[in-house]
Amino acid sequence: MLTNKPKTKILVDGGDPEETLGIKSLLGFVDGQTTNPSLIAKNPEIQKRLAAGHLLSAQEETDEYKKIVQSISPLVGDAGVSIEVFADLDSRADEMLAQGQEMFTWIPNAYVKYPCTHEGLRAAEMSVQKGIRVNMTLCFSQEQAAAVYAATKGSKEPVYVSPFVGRLDDRGEDGMDLVRNIKKMYERGDGHVHVLAASIRTIDHLLCSFFLGAELATVPNKVLQEWAAADFPMPDHDFTYKAVDAKGKSLKPIAYKDLDLNLPWESFDLAHELTSKGIQKFVADYQSTLRRSA
Ligand code: G3P
Repeated sequence: MLTNKPKTKILVDGGDPEETLGIKSLLGFVDGQTTNPSLIAKNPEIQKRLAAGHLLSAQEETDEYKKIVQSISPLVGDAGVSIEVFADLDSRADEMLAQGQEMFTWIPNAYVKYPCTHEGLRAAEMSVQKGIRVNMTLCFSQEQAAAVYAATKGSKEPVYVSPFVGRLDDRGEDGMDLVRNIKKMYERGDGHVHVLAASIRTIDHLLCSFFLGAELATVPNKVLQEWAAADFPMPDHDFTYKAVDAKGKSLKPIAYKDLDLNLPWESFDLAHELTSKGIQKFVADYQSTLRRSA
């Protein structure tokens, strides 16, 4: 059991309530959970149905997603359960908003996930005005995080932004630098956006997220098990993060940019290849569970 609870809230990055329950007994608590279409596609109940040759209709998929988050919802603390809208590269803000509004009613502690795209930000801007909590996902640049800040200014609830650390590492860039840079940029802000370190692949990612003061980190079961097996190490004051990939090759630093958070959100360059790729991957994983409609 974890006795020395970190300041960073710990969320489970997964789509299986049984797994969340197991982690809760491992740590003694779970602050929250993040889900996404890929994680839902891996849910054991959905996998069982697929193995039995039963592809789902879109409605069945939505019903399953709802059931899953309703089982997870009471297991977690005040960081809530993030539920992701089904969006492709052509999805419009009003379509995402309609889904988000519906998903927000599923559980009392929902956060609706929208991608860090122009349309996703428009959906987020409208959502926060309606009191819907949001988690902006697939964040790969400081510009996107600046736009999240500007688009959701005035939100009464904390807004989450999710920089994807591991996927930047995957292409040789130091994903932890993005978390560091966003935290630094937000020092000049009003504190309404909380940084949720995501795509955490290693204990070092987790410890560095603690060290950088990320408000939240979402962590897959595998990394939490490794952390527990190592007796829950914590970063000390002179913690240094080794920015290397799995093969020990140095990761390229990501430079800090001086961005003005008071600019209109549309003025920031939102394009990032990994955001588009991430959306396409979610679409593919979602569609792998779906029955083609005639
Ligand atoms: O938290 C985001 C996560 O689910 C993506 O992780 O390992 O697929 O990059 P990964």
